[in-house]
Amino acid sequence: MKRPLHEKSTTEQIRQRFDVDVERFSRLESGQQAAMDAPVILDVVARTAGCYLQPHGTLLDLGCGAGNFTLRVLGKVSPLNCLLVDLSRPMLDRAVSRVTAATSGWVRPLQSDLRDLSLEPASVDMILAGQVLHHLRDDEDWRRAFEKFHRWLRPGGTLLVADFVTFDAPGIQDFMLARYAAHLEAFGGAEYRDKVLAYCEVEDSPRSVRYQLDLLRSVGFHEYDVLHRNALFAAYYARKTTD
Ligand SMILES: C[S@@+](CC[C@H](N)C(=O)[O-])C[C@H]1O[C@@H](n2cnc3c(N)ncnc32)[C@H](O)[C@@H]1O
Repeated sequence: MKRPLHEKSTTEQIRQRFDVDVERFSRLESGQQAAMDAPVILDVVARTAGCYLQPHGTLLDLGCGAGNFTLRVLGKVSPLNCLLVDLSRPMLDRAVSRVTAATSGWVRPLQSDLRDLSLEPASVDMILAGQVLHHLRDDEDWRRAFEKFHRWLRPGGTLLVADFVTFDAPGIQDFMLARYAAHLEAFGGAEYRDKVLAYCEVEDSPRSVRYQLDLLRSVGFHEYDVLHRNALFAAYYARKTTD
């Protein structure tokens, strides 16, 4: 991910790419096939949600895509009220039809860049951010987003993140990227590998798990931990304290 941030895809380019990619994000069991351990991560996130969320709670799914993470959480806890946020209208339409069929709670779609979203403080019980935060760009983007996550959660509420991440140590990053390349090649061949890696370079600006955990602490989270990690794919949770 060496391309400078100002040369990465614009938000509009990202939206256009996802507008035509709904089918690929609608596989509930396998999840996103370009990601390593996607089925494990879907399961771990849903089970963690099941530890903390109560029926009739409010779930905010940022970058919801076709709704896979919300649907998997609803498989553990139901009904829930679901606020679904995505840049892409076709993704949101698919998410709304799938999620509405899975909960008797309200379902509200919001087409928005998550950076522009404004919600009432302490208004949600859980925030899901599945494979989306790697679209945040500079430090300011990351800090502002994490401050909002902390503000929007009710006391005792939980943030669950699954994402494409990096390592801060260049040597480790290099061989982890090579592991990911080998995974892609085994799945779809050399051409597929090169295509996915090329769009990661153009579109994504992931941060390390360490960077994100440090940010969690600095915006006020005290309880957090990594739930799963394999090379450049990780999931973690954080809880807002009740006092
Ligand atoms: C890789 S997909 C993941 C979708 C879903 N969370 C999942 O894991 O199946 C990323 C989604 O985030 C959306 N997205 C990307 N950048 C975003 C942003 N800044 N604000 C809101 N949504 C965004 C895209 O439109 C896309 O639907």
